[in-house]
Amino acid sequence: MDSSEIRSRFLKFFEKRGHKIIPSSSLVPGDPTVLFTTAGMQQFKPYYTNPKDADKDFGSRNITTVQKCIRTGDIDEVGDATHLTFFEMLGNFSFGGYDRGDAITYAHDFITKELGLEISYVTFYKGEGVVPRDEESKGIWTSLGVKDIREDGKDVFWGPTGGSGPCGPTTEIYCKNADGQDVEIWNIVFNEYFCDGSREKLDKGEAKLKKLDVLGIDTGMGLERLLATAQKKKNVYETDLFNNEQAKDERIVADHIKAALFMISDGVIPANTGRGYILRRLIRRAVRFSKQSLVQEIEKIKKIYKGVYELNDKGEIEKEESKFRETLNKGLKEFEKNTDPFVLFTTYGFPIELTLELAKEKGKTIDLEDFNKKMAEHQKLSQTSSAGMFKGGMANHNEKTIRLHTAHHLLLAGLQSVVGSSVKQKGSNITEERLRLDFLFDRKLTDEEKKKVEDFVNEKIGQGLDVVRKEMPLEEAKKIGAEMEFGAKYPDIVSVYFIEDKDGKSVSKEFCGGPHVKSTKELGHFKIQKEEAVAKGIRRIKAVLI
Ligand code: ALA
Repeated sequence: MDSSEIRSRFLKFFEKRGHKIIPSSSLVPGDPTVLFTTAGMQQFKPYYTNPKDADKDFGSRNITTVQKCIRTGDIDEVGDATHLTFFEMLGNFSFGGYDRGDAITYAHDFITKELGLEISYVTFYKGEGVVPRDEESKGIWTSLGVKDIREDGKDVFWGPTGGSGPCGPTTEIYCKNADGQDVEIWNIVFNEYFCDGSREKLDKGEAKLKKLDVLGIDTGMGLERLLATAQKKKNVYETDLFNNEQAKDERIVADHIKAALFMISDGVIPANTGRGYILRRLIRRAVRFSKQSLVQEIEKIKKIYKGVYELNDKGEIEKEESKFRETLNKGLKEFEKNTDPFVLFTTYGFPIELTLELAKEKGKTIDLEDFNKKMAEHQKLSQTSSAGMFKGGMANHNEKTIRLHTAHHLLLAGLQSVVGSSVKQKGSNITEERLRLDFLFDRKLTDEEKKKVEDFVNEKIGQGLDVVRKEMPLEEAKKIGAEMEFGAKYPDIVSVYFIEDKDGKSVSKEFCGGPHVKSTKELGHFKIQKEEAVAKGIRRIKAVLI
């Protein structure tokens, strides 16, 4: 029984029992309070509180999926028999469509009858505060003939994902792997409550639970773990979703590059903040553990998932690898010399987590507080200097200034396209009403040239082009020829905004702290109001969006 067969048997099993099959959502969730999709239920969060919407949106209150997930909380455990940063979660969900008895019986029957596996033991919630002991689940398992039923505490209470959400007690199923180890296979959550704060707040007693009108069911079964059990393997690397990696280093590389490939395929790019930072951290950690180029690993992973997922790393992994390999050995030497972790980060590209990991291996201590302080200062600096646009405060961005800001980039690109690439930006200023661009040029523009520049900008607006931000080392940004303000000072890591046309040809690339619109179609119509001299060799354009 291979991975494809298990996926399809799972979905069919639940389809036969009245579930609608829904595709996996992206690894980049719609919920802004979470970085990645960590569970199958995430795309369905709103339906637990508004079950009627499920009838409208899916024509059913019972759903089944195979969901792509990223969890980096257990990254240190990766390489053992079961922990992964990327995995697929098989799940069935219900928003008031069925009860505990149905949910537990489905899971029991799928494991024991459909797959013919033996359940080692199950758990149930012992109760705390307003949440009672889950005697009902215990009774259901007993009636199904399961002998080993164990009570548990916080581990079997599913907290809200993100800032708030549905939550409730769970019951877990454990099976033995080929080594005789008990492995948690399936988690069945009874979403009986809505929590008005995060899991952390709930644990600290700072968030409240409110009983939901209907019982929600949310289940999750890790495909890789299930596969290892079903294929009688000792660990997930021996299944058909890996290449039988033995050494811990090889396993880390296989896991991290798989996660990176899936993230990039869902639109994440390496960066120094947020999702992009997690991605960068995974790739750089893989580089550290890998003895050979990561390209081969990418190809191996693509082969495994051929026909199941469209994977394309758009060259990002190689780019990130070559950038980091250049400095890795130098950085490792610097680490030995007790170089400041902040310098390791800014000059050698060592994510702080990597420095901490190295320090742990070597029994060294790192002053994290000092690092965080320096980072905060660094970020403040990079925001102000790379966003010279909004001099006199980064404050007061609103829709109008943000639109004008993007128009400003297009205007510079337009000038360069019409009168030549020697046009360089010298200064800028944006208010809610208009943008102002000062540029190096030694004569008045003709009316025809002004019209051509306007047409250029309006054409790019009409094409609805994406505006994309990337963070990169200053040197690299210079190398790719990103526009910078003449005479301005920039930090080591800069943010660059890219606008490309539909054929992938560069329209504009500029050093800039943002913010910008997502698509040029948001801008409206561009018009030059005035073109004048400010000083010898410096011209000024004022323009508006109408
Ligand atoms: N949401 C539950 C989990 O991810 C099923 O474990």
